[in-house]
Amino acid sequence: MSRQDAPPIYLDHAATTPVDPEVFATMKPYFTEHYGNPASIHTVGQKAIIAVDEAREQVADFLGCKTGEIIFTSGATESNNFVLKGVLAAAKIQKPHIITSTIEHPCILDTCQHLEKRGVEVTYLPVDKEGVLNTKSVQEAIKENTVLVTIIYANNEIGTIQPIAEIGEIIKKANQERKNKIIFHTDAVQAIQYLDCNVKKLGVDLLSLSGHKFYGPKGVGVLFVKEGTLIEKIQHGGHQEYNKRAGTLNVPGIVGLGKATELTSKNRVADSKKQQKLRDLLINSILKNIPDSHLNGSNKHRLPNNANIRFDKIEGESIMLHLDFEGIAVSTGSACTSGTLEPSHVLLAIGVAKEQAHGSIRFTLGKDTSEADIKKVLEVLPPIVKKLRQMSPLK
Ligand SMILES: Cc1ncc(COP(=O)(O)O)c(C=O)c1O
Repeated sequence: MSRQDAPPIYLDHAATTPVDPEVFATMKPYFTEHYGNPASIHTVGQKAIIAVDEAREQVADFLGCKTGEIIFTSGATESNNFVLKGVLAAAKIQKPHIITSTIEHPCILDTCQHLEKRGVEVTYLPVDKEGVLNTKSVQEAIKENTVLVTIIYANNEIGTIQPIAEIGEIIKKANQERKNKIIFHTDAVQAIQYLDCNVKKLGVDLLSLSGHKFYGPKGVGVLFVKEGTLIEKIQHGGHQEYNKRAGTLNVPGIVGLGKATELTSKNRVADSKKQQKLRDLLINSILKNIPDSHLNGSNKHRLPNNANIRFDKIEGESIMLHLDFEGIAVSTGSACTSGTLEPSHVLLAIGVAKEQAHGSIRFTLGKDTSEADIKKVLEVLPPIVKKLRQMSPLK
């Protein structure tokens, strides 16, 4: 088999995952056979609403909440926008204050910056060099006008896991003495496959998910909204989703997302164990065999599928392209913004220098990653790094 014919070794699961065949099979009839609009009261529409109800139950079971607390959205970008804009719209306060971290996904950070221009106060809490937030800093940042704390559960670039349940406790305590209650949100997009997402244990009022990050389809997400949480809808039109989010429901997507949560809860423990073993093999072998390579982020508080490694004196882009030529898909520590390469804000936030951030590669494993895949990476990567270093003007 030539390299072009071989299936790719896909190590970019934090970007997206393939739809699980079982998920796809469950979705399929809702495109062509049961195509009704769930808002229609005739029999065709009822078929669709029954399927949506079942998916809502699957997600509610997974999160340990009521079905009425699940709002389906178009993805986590929408869920996170909904949180920030919706909580602020409902807050009856002069100059509301939000607490977040410096390592959130751009859909949180960009929205916060947009809100700052409209007079909202935002505190961006720093993280330590491992990428972990000090819970005391959350406590210290709380003010009289704080309306929302939003902290990412597990980071999409370096896989660092934040102590969400501990922060939940801090907010619960603070709320006992306050009239204007602080609302607590977590972006659990990357956590869902590996960590307990029970909303009661986490102590969150709001939680975001995205279908395509756990073997479900793209273009569908979830916002958990705890009963009684003060949040205004940001999308107006019909009365769908308990009158909290207007728009015709993406029935096949919702059905797929529901199935994906069911499969995730069944396989999570075994999948995590397997991926962690392979991830450790990857990290340890790279650090041992490739000089001047370093792990970005925490070794301990890290998702089982994430290895983010920086290679001194070379560009991650070049490594990524060489690996792609070998049929291996990874991503880099840079983001393309208006045609220029910007170093990752997450790597800068943990104290990695600009040039080193540019020399970083993110490997994210998935449920079908095999030992042979990892061994292939370990075989082709050292000569790539050696060759690029010989050619590098950064020496
Ligand atoms: C942590 C995190 N939050 C939010 C998002 C946005 O999700 P979506 O693609 O569903 O808009 C992503 C996707 O990259 C993510 O990794």
